[in-house]
Amino acid sequence: MAQQGNFKSPSRMGALEEGAPVSSPGAVSAGKPREEGLKGVNFERRSFLGKVVGGVGAAVAVSTLYPVVKYIIPPVKEVKNVNEMVVGKAAEVPENTGKIYPFNEDKVIVINDNGKLTACSAVCTHLGCLVRWEDKDNLIFCPCHGAKYQQTGEIISGPQPLPLAPYAVRVEGDDLIISKA
Ligand code: FES
Repeated sequence: MAQQGNFKSPSRMGALEEGAPVSSPGAVSAGKPREEGLKGVNFERRSFLGKVVGGVGAAVAVSTLYPVVKYIIPPVKEVKNVNEMVVGKAAEVPENTGKIYPFNEDKVIVINDNGKLTACSAVCTHLGCLVRWEDKDNLIFCPCHGAKYQQTGEIISGPQPLPLAPYAVRVEGDDLIISKA
């Protein structure tokens, strides 16, 4: 079967020899000067679109990076330093129990020993673990290394170098109020 569009056909070769235009990929035709060739291209629209694309890209980058940065750098917590504070309701600390409340930058344990309320720092002075009230032994106990404190924070035994910082506690109406001692 004869091949269609044979480039070596005599008629095609003849046309090429007579100076017919060659059209091959990459061929450069001697056309108009560059300035003339770019006539009709709307550069204002092109730069506007470029800005839109750039803006969308920047918005996507910011919305992606913001949560990552917020995760890596935790927010600075503002702790108000007050002399006294209503920390909760008196009913939250029933008889013969202890409950820990945040107070300024400290944690304070409020102990209800048969109706008598006392309060001191709940942060063990050894290595900073939180203590708890052991009602059966009538003392404050640190579960980390066994430090023992009296109800008012004085040292009984253990590796801790200092007593627990004392606080004052009182009830007004239903409110439980802690204040600096
Ligand atoms: S942190 Fe409390 S005994 Fe060590």
